[in-house]
Amino acid sequence: MKCLVTGAAGFIGSHVAERLLKDGHTVVGIDRFSDYYDPALKRSNAEDLLENSGFELAVRDLAIDQISDLLGGVDVVFHLAAQAGVRASWGESFDRYVDDNIRATQRLLEAVKDRRIDKFLYASTSSVYGDAEKFPTPEDVRPRPVSPYGVTKLAAEHLCNLYQRNYGVPVVAVRYFTVYGPRQRPDMAFRRFIDALLGGWEIDVYGDGGQTRDFTYVSDAVDATLRAAFSPEATGVFNVGGGSQIALRDAISVLEELIGKEAILNFTDPVAGDSRDTSADTSRAAAELKYRPSVDLASGLANQVAWQRGLGD
Ligand SMILES: NC(=O)c1ccc[n+]([C@@H]2O[C@H](COP(=O)([O-])OP(=O)(O)OC[C@H]3O[C@@H](n4cnc5c(N)ncnc54)[C@H](O)[C@@H]3O)[C@@H](O)[C@H]2O)c1
Repeated sequence: MKCLVTGAAGFIGSHVAERLLKDGHTVVGIDRFSDYYDPALKRSNAEDLLENSGFELAVRDLAIDQISDLLGGVDVVFHLAAQAGVRASWGESFDRYVDDNIRATQRLLEAVKDRRIDKFLYASTSSVYGDAEKFPTPEDVRPRPVSPYGVTKLAAEHLCNLYQRNYGVPVVAVRYFTVYGPRQRPDMAFRRFIDALLGGWEIDVYGDGGQTRDFTYVSDAVDATLRAAFSPEATGVFNVGGGSQIALRDAISVLEELIGKEAILNFTDPVAGDSRDTSADTSRAAAELKYRPSVDLASGLANQVAWQRGLGD
């Protein structure tokens, strides 16, 4: 199959592209190499992909550039491009979230709406739930985001639904719960914690560290993504969690054990936009996609630690 992956040079997008190539698909990647974090990291992700002859890369901004020349023969669209991060989504940078999350999605949907594609997969987020009214949280609770980021991601989910209803775009959405593993974004907690432990400096913990997250190892997130995209019947929204809800300070203990050092913790004020807890009810993905997360937290973190150690060599 020919697959279009937006955000292909990013954390999860590069893993999705890599797995698709490994499975024998061809991939057209789109990325604007935004400077939300060091674009050199994204270039390195893309370089690895470009070594595969089945991969081509287009440096485009979905919110501005035309992409119709890239869509010929595309069977499946994986839309992972976004401006991620809850904490940075307040204030003036909100414009960027509107462009990369809402406008980019609307323009992509416009570009594909008259074409025959098998599936349009939208990468959504647990951040649409905000402080959810129920744990584990099923897909059908009323989403009430607590960050501007969550609002833009939910708006884009609604756009996907509109294009499905009005133009028959075959949409499926996955709501990822905190994804981790090699190539994790530098603003994300585990990436920062591991760097701090390896470097021997303080870890900034937002709030009291008692907040819990359902952490999902990246290969599990990718597996669920491909299952949703390649299942002809899959439609609507699927939670994608890792099955390991844990408090942040307990996750730090796991890292201390793996790295063999004691963390120096600096507790700061809670940050606006962070949900207190997340926990995915993945029964829909289990029943309809046969999704079973297979990497436990200690093994997944061991892989991420090994990768981050390698970056320092
Ligand atoms: N990482 C997580 O834990 C997590 C959790 C929930 C949802 N998500 C979603 O998964 C997707 C991937 O997240 P990630 O963590 O890999 O982020 P990332 O920032 O590493 O990757 C996103 C990529 O999209 C690109 N991009 C942004 N705007 C673009 C535009 N207008 N045109 C072209 N490219 C553009 C960026 O340059 C970046 O490389 C996002 O949609 C995000 O909202 C991630």
